Amino acid sequence: MNRISIAVAGAGDRGATYASYAIEHPERVTITAVAEPRELHRNRMAELFSIPADKVFCSWEEMAACEKLADAVVIATQDNMHTEPALAFAELGYSILLEKPMAPTAEECSSIVSAVQSAGVVFAVCHVLRYTAYTRKLMKLLDTGVIGEIVSVQHLEPVGYWHQAHSFVRGNWRNSQESSFMLLAKSCHDMDWLRFIIDRKCLSVSSFGSLKFFKPECAPAGAGERCMSCGIEQKCPYSAKKLYFGLFDSGKTGWPVNVVAPEPTREKLRDALANGPYGRCVFACDNDVVDNQVVNLLFEDEVTATFTMTAFTKAASRKTRIFGTAGEIEGDGKILKIFDFLTDTETVIDTSSLEPASMAGHGGGDYHIMEDFVAAVSAGDQGLISSGPKVSLESHLMAFAGEKARLEKRLVDLSEMGS
Ligand SMILES: NC(=O)c1ccc[n+]([C@@H]2O[C@H](COP(=O)([O-])OP(=O)(O)OC[C@H]3O[C@@H](n4cnc5c(N)ncnc54)[C@H](O)[C@@H]3O)[C@@H](O)[C@H]2O)c1
Repeated sequence: MNRISIAVAGAGDRGATYASYAIEHPERVTITAVAEPRELHRNRMAELFSIPADKVFCSWEEMAACEKLADAVVIATQDNMHTEPALAFAELGYSILLEKPMAPTAEECSSIVSAVQSAGVVFAVCHVLRYTAYTRKLMKLLDTGVIGEIVSVQHLEPVGYWHQAHSFVRGNWRNSQESSFMLLAKSCHDMDWLRFIIDRKCLSVSSFGSLKFFKPECAPAGAGERCMSCGIEQKCPYSAKKLYFGLFDSGKTGWPVNVVAPEPTREKLRDALANGPYGRCVFACDNDVVDNQVVNLLFEDEVTATFTMTAFTKAASRKTRIFGTAGEIEGDGKILKIFDFLTDTETVIDTSSLEPASMAGHGGGDYHIMEDFVAAVSAGDQGLISSGPKVSLESHLMAFAGEKARLEKRLVDLSEMGS
């Protein structure tokens, strides 16, 4: 395999994660350019990969103003900043690894797909759940017909009470105008994964959901504006002090603590919680994304699925039950339990030993998507990518249709979305 070069646009949490593949496999990848406005993050990546100064930029716009600097680019800017760099880098001939969601509107998603297709570059959307050892094992089982024909699927995304508070009440994905709605921001993964395992087109959806709890009228009596100065903080499960100092004091200084205070110390964390967004009371934020949503989906061949996303769980892996004509599969991201109707027996498969030792985020999906993307760019073969432009657009349209169904309180046919 020929070694490829990658430029990183957005060296935040995700950009740094994907770039770390080059530390694992310097024989396959070099990181040759970075664009990042935050000095700490920009310098950190430049130093880590010895990137020359003339290839270190403060923004993707500056990087895109140069001639092509690498074989591929990782675009890991925030949700509403994907379209413009994707169009610009496609035109320059870069292969693109694009973070999900592709873009906040269906029209922008379509424009990205048109641009990469006419540029003829390798393109992958970071639907990392497709790439895990767990999903790959599950797909192999389904292909063998172990449960017969899939009739329906029940899928749960237990976001978790503190993860919801961190990302979707206080954090980057709290407000649909600033980033995107929940079904797109978080659950486009789930729409895509359901599309993948069911392996049929989605035809129509209905949906209900709301921001039921994290709003001012649900604040308990005596709640303050900020956890650091709140009189009832010790009785609140959503306390920022409990969450971030709890993690920090047990030695966990990575995500989500380093999002609150990069290179955290106790003092930096105290200052961030006293003054920054992550110290706000969960009932006094500018959040509007839902904290619970259900979606019903009808696929080709009368296959049905139900999806639930909820904040009100312990943070846990997604849980799925797949109901087939000859058996049932229950999975939790690691363990697969296969029940066979003919023999009334259960087989249990633990896929955790198949996960990579490093870049283990998203059940190893972070590692394996990079592995496949690098191989695809090296070979110039889009066929090595599972989450390419057409299918990613399709699953994004499922999320847009789901949100339309929720807002308009009606069943939405995917054909309405141009699918
Ligand atoms: N695939 C997944 O499972 C997964 C998980 C988490 C986040 N995401 C997605 O990844 C994306 C990035 O999320 P994150 O958590 O890394 O966020 P982040 O805020 O840590 O990183 C985004 C970075 O983009 C930088 N940036 C802003 N303007 C820029 C510009 N003009 N040029 C270059 N860089 C610029 C920011 O300074 C920041 O460092 C989001 O779209 C998010 O939804 C995907």
